[in-house]
Amino acid sequence: MNILILGGGGREHSIAWAALQNPKCDRLIVAPGNAGIAQIAECAALDILDGGAVAEFCGAEAVDFVIVGPEAPLAAGVADRLREAGINVFGPSQAAALLEASKSFTKEICDAAGAPTAAYGHFTDPQAARAHVQAQGAPIVVKADGLAAGKGVIVAETEAEALAAVDEMFGGAFGDAGAEVVIEEFMTGEEASFFVLCDGETALPIGTAQDHKRVGEGDTGPNTGGMGAYSPAPVMTGAVTQRALDEIVRPVLAEMARRGTPYSGVLFVGLMIEAGAPRLVEFNVRFGDPECQALMVRLGGQALDLMQATAEGRLADCTVNWAADHAMTVVMAARGYPGDYDKGSVIGGLEDCPEDSFHQVFHAGTARAGGQFVASGGRVLAATARGASLREAAERAYALVDRIDWPEGFCRRDIGWRAL
Ligand code: AMP
Ligand code: GLY
Repeated sequence: MNILILGGGGREHSIAWAALQNPKCDRLIVAPGNAGIAQIAECAALDILDGGAVAEFCGAEAVDFVIVGPEAPLAAGVADRLREAGINVFGPSQAAALLEASKSFTKEICDAAGAPTAAYGHFTDPQAARAHVQAQGAPIVVKADGLAAGKGVIVAETEAEALAAVDEMFGGAFGDAGAEVVIEEFMTGEEASFFVLCDGETALPIGTAQDHKRVGEGDTGPNTGGMGAYSPAPVMTGAVTQRALDEIVRPVLAEMARRGTPYSGVLFVGLMIEAGAPRLVEFNVRFGDPECQALMVRLGGQALDLMQATAEGRLADCTVNWAADHAMTVVMAARGYPGDYDKGSVIGGLEDCPEDSFHQVFHAGTARAGGQFVASGGRVLAATARGASLREAAERAYALVDRIDWPEGFCRRDIGWRAL
């Protein structure tokens, strides 16, 4: 099978690694990829938001199966164009990708499906939004409706902060994404991520994880795309997982199917769990980054079979073979991230890192220059390890970090602290 993966971050490096563990993978191309991915797969320069161009590339290169990593191509309808061209694709249609691309759409689906989530108001007018904030008081959560690269959510601790967020969003700080605003009740509890494969009808859980969004130790400082993650999430007990499936995932999938827009792909279910009761924080229509890295080292080569079965509507016949293991991924970022940071610093020591089914340093933002690896993004590496316990996985992941010689980078030393 010839496989094309769209994307170029740590998530896509880990999916590429897992695909290569499966003997069905004959040829692997990643677009655009990165310097780490280039060590294990072909990289292609391709406009991954242009469905026609991706379909044409698949025809020319005899690609049998496309795995879409990030949300932007899904929201742009790339999966639809590929399906129209008769190409198997892992990733939802543009209509189903609204579960990530529109927060008000997701709220409306939850209402229709009876899925527990924060109470909310949906506003297209700043005056009404301000009045709602004043009526509800703080803490309160203000969200740009559309895709804002993970930046469109303000958890406001004071009314003034919430009003400023409303003004900022309607003032165009997030472009079109902020033309509509959702204002939510602030939920308390512990957060976890739940990953479920869906083929339109069947839902198959493939793992849980917790990530660390804040840049600083002790979960302090500004939000990032994620500084590290571990799997499984202890808070996702069997009972909580069952409730999340019965009360949120299955009713939402049934509602999507009823509307004629069945969901096919991985559903990333962001949950808030309090007193054993899960409530939905948000859906994403793709794997999390860096949660994916922790899931892929646990799943290995079967991840490819499961993604293919998802695309082909065969999940009812599938099971996941779980080892009783744990995984952790620690993100190494360029100093300054998530603010301004420099690119181009040299990363040493990667050659000395073990690479086996227990240890992988996935590349998130690297390039090659003068025969060396250099940083080319904010999040740059994801040191990932598996072990019999979370502690063992953490020790192995930090041993990888310690072998990397990159003075211009940093990481959090406390990934997994709640669980450890
Ligand atoms: P999102 O981009 O939707 O994942 O939101 C970013 C983060 O904001 C989440 O991971 C939560 O920590 C927090 N958050 C979002 N919505 C709420 C809510 N209604 N109550 C409490 N925290 C929230
Ligand atoms: N790590 C969170 C995300 O991928 O959205």
